[in-house]
Amino acid sequence: MLYHSRFSIKSKAHFALSFLLFFGLNAALGAQTITSPNKNLSLTFEVKNNGIPFYQLQYKGKPVIKPSALGIEVKDSPSFMEGFEIDRTEVSSVDTTWEPLMGEQKTIRNNYTELLVLLKQPQVDNRQLRIRFRLFNDGLGFRYEFPKQPNLNYFIIKEEHTQFNLAGNHKIFWIPGDYDTNEYAYTTSKIAELPQLMEKATVFITAQHPIENLAVQTPTMMKTDDGLYINIHEAALVNYPAMSLNVDAVNFKMSSHLTPDAVGNKGYIQTDAQSPWRTVVVSDKATEILASKLILNLNEPTAYKDVSWIKPIKYIGVWWEYFVAGKSTWAYGTETNVKLDQDFSKLTPNGKHGATNARVKSYIDFASKHGFDAVLVEGWNIGWEDWIGNWKENVFDFITPYPDFDVKMLRDYAASKGVKIMMHHETSGSATNYERRLDRAFQFMKDNNYNAVKTGYVGQIVPRGEHHDGQWMVNHYIHVAKRAADYKIMVNSHEAVRPTGLNRTYPNWVAQESARGTEFEAMGGLAPEHTTILPFTRLMGGPMDFTPGIFQTDLTYYNTGGNQRVNTTLAKQLAYYVTMYSPLQMAADIPDNYERFPDAFQFIKDVALDWDASYILEAEPGDYITIARKAKGKNEWYVGGITDENPRTATIDFSYLPEGKKYFATIYADAKDASWDKNPQAYTIKKAVVTSKSKLNQFLAPGGGFAISIKEAEASELKSLKRL
Ligand code: NOJ
Ligand code: CA
Repeated sequence: MLYHSRFSIKSKAHFALSFLLFFGLNAALGAQTITSPNKNLSLTFEVKNNGIPFYQLQYKGKPVIKPSALGIEVKDSPSFMEGFEIDRTEVSSVDTTWEPLMGEQKTIRNNYTELLVLLKQPQVDNRQLRIRFRLFNDGLGFRYEFPKQPNLNYFIIKEEHTQFNLAGNHKIFWIPGDYDTNEYAYTTSKIAELPQLMEKATVFITAQHPIENLAVQTPTMMKTDDGLYINIHEAALVNYPAMSLNVDAVNFKMSSHLTPDAVGNKGYIQTDAQSPWRTVVVSDKATEILASKLILNLNEPTAYKDVSWIKPIKYIGVWWEYFVAGKSTWAYGTETNVKLDQDFSKLTPNGKHGATNARVKSYIDFASKHGFDAVLVEGWNIGWEDWIGNWKENVFDFITPYPDFDVKMLRDYAASKGVKIMMHHETSGSATNYERRLDRAFQFMKDNNYNAVKTGYVGQIVPRGEHHDGQWMVNHYIHVAKRAADYKIMVNSHEAVRPTGLNRTYPNWVAQESARGTEFEAMGGLAPEHTTILPFTRLMGGPMDFTPGIFQTDLTYYNTGGNQRVNTTLAKQLAYYVTMYSPLQMAADIPDNYERFPDAFQFIKDVALDWDASYILEAEPGDYITIARKAKGKNEWYVGGITDENPRTATIDFSYLPEGKKYFATIYADAKDASWDKNPQAYTIKKAVVTSKSKLNQFLAPGGGFAISIKEAEASELKSLKRL
């Protein structure tokens, strides 16, 4: 489908764009207040104390952000911190709708009140800065804008000083501030407890750079004592470093902390330019945090003309077996010192290489038989003998296969089976090497029928001294997405900077990992509550390639020894296909394990990837989530529910179903005696009739979950079934 029909902001009958301009005399302009369209939120801006800009945010009369200063510290010239006067302000409102190419709902409403403040610094050559606030019903977005102006072309940011002064000692779901990784486990605590918990939370991760002072990453999720949910993140991170939050745990104040570059600078700006949006999503209902589309709304529509080639992908992979004890390896040879220009066919085979012709063909057969779109193959290319930990520049060339992987034969075999092979580009952090080779790598993909690539950035970044979350790498990821689009290639990045809604602008950047994902189940286990937090944190920024679907949960199965296990029940793994939104979803376990549980596997085969509507039925960060979604363009619904380590009973409402019609529901649930640690594979499958009036109280075991598929059916098929 073409760009125009799917992506442009539609001018609907109710489209309203009104400008009310307030012109005032510079210093005479006092506090400016705007309210959200439904009046629940109010934002006040003023310039005070020596010309410092301040903002504050209230929700239903309660303070969310107390008066907080705004400013940018500039290197080697006066800062954008003080001495400001208001030149002019403009208030406007927007109420439009747009359709994401792929998403949780067909139509997204973009409805906000905007306050644009034009500031000048009379003492500094009349330098200009603008601050744009957009107040939605579900929160606030604001950014700094650096307009083209007579006395400022270039400057370097020393630090951004955006304050978020909170109203109390909130409960907070957090991971440590770090310039290189977002793969930490979440800690839940009070803000005041952060100092004593930080050291324990900062576990070892390959390539990490924890922030020296007390800081947490965004998205940060908080809950106040009186039940207000507050989420702080950013939107449209482009040509700017990612932001962490410094924490003053005594006064409950946070402030922006940008990721530095190799020489310690925090952003190179050429006017006309702007910062990313700083976002504060607020509600007294946790479900509304998950339903928020504020971050997507603050991103630009796509500039791609043709998006017809961008599609949801359900895939399997020669991947999880690399984590299974004794099974197979990415590497082909036993050597531990290799260089790209040597002859890899002369290596000593280790006898365990995973990506062999025979193995890949069997995965293709399995994918074809069960209706998957693609098979990811990792370890197909030379270099894996010596890829990690050496800050090495030329690790992979992205085009040369190992001797036992026949690119053309497998290309033709996959095509004959109607399956795509998904490319894998692990860069080992050497973005320099990747950029040099990118065009040849993408041409190689085109020539061999690949349309999607999983990228990876494990290791310290080359150019040396740069960080995964710095401005240089932020630009790198976007460069890769745009260049991939030139070749009609979809991208799934791992270890990249946390997402900020750019999947709207670059829809071929379909999903990212950028958090502690399923692979950690094989490296110590994810806490049962982890996936009740991720949708409130990491997923606020965009779809996650979480790689769910692990059925084999036993001890001793995984590489790293006896205490390794998957910390969920089998039924909970099914629920993730609904609770962890992504248009790209993996069935991550190995085919053998799916063949042992064909009836549960059916849910993964059936579940949709793209949605007309989503209903967040129940949610509490750290505790539980229940979501129902309607498949795009189909009368099919899927429901997923998860709990933390505690058992619970979910209350599932079906009122979103069309009235007066009976549907066929299949309920995949934990057995009564199931639990993530003692009996994870005990599940039940029940069939029933549901209508819009049905209600179901569903048991979830400790660390458990459930999944439901709902379809249309003939009356005869429904006859013998119980009605819920
Ligand atoms: C880390 C990725 O998250 C994982 O999926 C991948 O297999 C390895 N890097 C190797 O590239
Ligand atoms: Ca990873």
